[in-house]
Amino acid sequence: MRTFSVAVVGATGAVGNEMIRVLEQRDFPVGQLKLLASARSLGKSLEYRGKSVKVEVLNEDSFDGVQVGLFSAGGSISEKFAPIAARSGCVVIDNTSAFRMDPEIPLVVPEVNAEAIGQYKKKGIIANPNCSTIQMVVVLKPIHDAVRIKRIVVSTYQSVSGTGKKAVDELEDQTRAILSGREPVVKVYPYQIAFNCLPQIDVFLDNGYTKEEMKMVNETRKIMNDPSIAVTATTVRVPVFYAHSESINIETERKITPAQVRELLSRAPGVQVIDDPAQRRYPMAIDAVGHNDTYVGRIREDESIANGINMWVVSDNLRKGAALNAVQIAEILIRDYLG
Ligand code: A2P
Repeated sequence: MRTFSVAVVGATGAVGNEMIRVLEQRDFPVGQLKLLASARSLGKSLEYRGKSVKVEVLNEDSFDGVQVGLFSAGGSISEKFAPIAARSGCVVIDNTSAFRMDPEIPLVVPEVNAEAIGQYKKKGIIANPNCSTIQMVVVLKPIHDAVRIKRIVVSTYQSVSGTGKKAVDELEDQTRAILSGREPVVKVYPYQIAFNCLPQIDVFLDNGYTKEEMKMVNETRKIMNDPSIAVTATTVRVPVFYAHSESINIETERKITPAQVRELLSRAPGVQVIDDPAQRRYPMAIDAVGHNDTYVGRIREDESIANGINMWVVSDNLRKGAALNAVQIAEILIRDYLG
């Protein structure tokens, strides 16, 4: 079988580490694996398929001979190194927001718009969407195709792992401190995250929304290839380690019943319906961790409007929200374009 030389940029981070695990678990045909990070990680090694692989310091020559680059080391690293990698013939799948809204760069969720992957040829880069957007569009696309969604109102309950390893440590440290009667130390977020909810993810923009909220608006329209969908978002960081939850309200052009939504989504790729209120069954963050699917439940009619549906959507943000989606893109890339 043909194999590919793969680089993981930001390999020591929360998403990078998950990328390595997903490559392993999905048997991606990796020939050589390059693990790249900053000089801080010099001397470190990481496990891949039972072997220890040395972490290398990212530099301009890192991509010689590399065919697929999975980037997750922050926007400024991608801005600098993704074009360098692309020039040396490596196809970049970028998990940061650096290129997502570039009209010449495809923004892809394979279950929704796999056909856009071919546009990588323009700049050698494919963008992986924002984690909250991915899990929302995977669920909404089949409904949009069936009855056209006019408007989406979404509120998110996002775990700290989306911010990175330091934030996971901070939630743990603050929780321990507070439970032992010590003052919590606040470093990563503007305020204490333990036992709290922060209605701010990323920076505030002039319109009063945060950047994370506007990512959900703009990326949803680009991925669904429909600039007419109205989207409004409130994104909230909650003291959960892994997996994001979302309350989603949609208004559709044509009527669809909750039973029809359940039936439609039970056939949707990458989606599992868990929706049995009588048995108190609904998706929860703790059940989604480590799984590839996006879970949907609490599907019910919005009785305040003519054609409205409410639902609750949960997914592992490091998996479908980041590493898994990137590797799924890479799988299609090597099968249909590089094979
Ligand atoms: P390092 O561990 O060497 O700092 P997270 O999002 O979990 O915080 O992870 C960020 C990832 O991005 C880490 O792998 C980190 O490596 C990597 N990274 C951060 N800054 C740089 C840089 N200047 N060059 C290369 N990798 C970087």
